[in-house]
Amino acid sequence: MSAFGLVAITLVLLASLASSRDLPFFVKSLRDLHRGPPQLPMKSRAEPVTGWITQKIDHFDESNTDTYQMRYLVNDEFETEGSPIFIFVGGEWEIEPSMVKGGLWYDLAKEHNGVLVYTEHRYYGESLPTTTFSTENLKYLHVKQALADLAHFIETFKAENPNLTNSKVLLSGGSYSATMVVWFKRLYPELIVGGWASSAPLLAKLNFVEYKEVVGKAFLELGGQQCYNRIQNGIAELEELFDNKRAAEARAMLRLCSNFDEHNDLDLWSLFGSISNIFSGIAQTQREGDIEFYCNYLLSFDDDASAIANFAYYAWGSPNCLDPTYKETVEYYLWGINNLDESRAWYYQTCNEYGWYQTSGSSNQPFGTKFPATLYTELCSDVFDHQFGNEKIVENTVQTNEDFGGMEPEVENIYVTHGALDPWHPMGLGTAEGATIISKASHCNDFTSISSQDSEEMRAAKERLSELVREWLA
Ligand SMILES: *[C@@H]1O[C@H](CO)[C@@H](O)[C@H](O)[C@H]1NC(C)=O
Repeated sequence: MSAFGLVAITLVLLASLASSRDLPFFVKSLRDLHRGPPQLPMKSRAEPVTGWITQKIDHFDESNTDTYQMRYLVNDEFETEGSPIFIFVGGEWEIEPSMVKGGLWYDLAKEHNGVLVYTEHRYYGESLPTTTFSTENLKYLHVKQALADLAHFIETFKAENPNLTNSKVLLSGGSYSATMVVWFKRLYPELIVGGWASSAPLLAKLNFVEYKEVVGKAFLELGGQQCYNRIQNGIAELEELFDNKRAAEARAMLRLCSNFDEHNDLDLWSLFGSISNIFSGIAQTQREGDIEFYCNYLLSFDDDASAIANFAYYAWGSPNCLDPTYKETVEYYLWGINNLDESRAWYYQTCNEYGWYQTSGSSNQPFGTKFPATLYTELCSDVFDHQFGNEKIVENTVQTNEDFGGMEPEVENIYVTHGALDPWHPMGLGTAEGATIISKASHCNDFTSISSQDSEEMRAAKERLSELVREWLA
């Protein structure tokens, strides 16, 4: 098989993550950034047991007695009297068994005869408080409710299990669920002895311009200057074609469907936002050799613009034509109301609590200028509620930072790790605030068992966590 064929197939695989409806270009590119951690190699043969716990739909309204069933997984193969409880906190994804059957957290549980638990976040997977995701129904989707679910879970799980009544509890999480670990310790310090937060964004911010800077940095550091220039020049050339009334050429190169309207800013922004998100997906999940591989592909073309156009086309699975229209995106998120779509749920959380829109607002990144914050805030307004204007979303982020302390969460006994090439890390703590930054690593790179594949820094971080867990359980 030719190298091109191989690249094309890999890109198709990248693009073909399971979904029950064809995902529009833009939605898919965002969704790739919000998957759960990759499945871990499973060491244990134990079959985790699925449990369900009754939770209040609204923990903060006494008069509302409605409840829902929250799902969790338990691996009790090491359980004995007084076993510590090692909880991995679920985020904006469906839970799956490998997280309690392998990896570093599993190894630590084994060392301490711990019981492993994976909790599911409300509105994701099968933990569904409402029968539709209408905007009205999504009002119970809030991190404060999810943290209260977790507190109630810990209390109930201990009370109902005679072996665990006086057990110590530890939390771990990745990405948004790592954020939850930090905030849980802030709100309910007495319920856990310690925790591990891998890649936790803590500062809510509407216009998250730093994200694409780190994506660019990852391509520069691992792929080289030539690759970085190819991306920067290719995107700039495509932008120029649209700006200089040569849209027909750009449309042909990118194989855009006929309904794409280059006079509609929202269509143009969706296109360029989606293209940049392909690079984000690669940087956020990169393992050794990935970026080099895609850079070789990009550099195999004769010119910059066609390299980018072909790259985007293959990343989208080589359809008849590409449809990155804004309208398609809005329709998808509205379809999500009755289909309980998790992309819709997460998008709602960004509008209502965090922002974190990965825009082209910085000039220090190679992905051009054409995906401003307005693209993302318009979507909030069009798919949820017209009250979600720019001002309202800024207010929401200010509220979140007030509630949880932003970059000063003031918590003890939480080990915070980040990859230096994880585009999320600028929203999290740095070394000055006690975090461990692992060079060359990406998002949630440190969940696997200690191994000879680990860089020295990676290994040191995992050993530091192991040491801390011993201290917390002593
Ligand atoms: C409780 O602990 C005992 C040992 O102290 C163990 O034999 C038993 O299996 C544990 N119970 C469960 C449900 O795992």
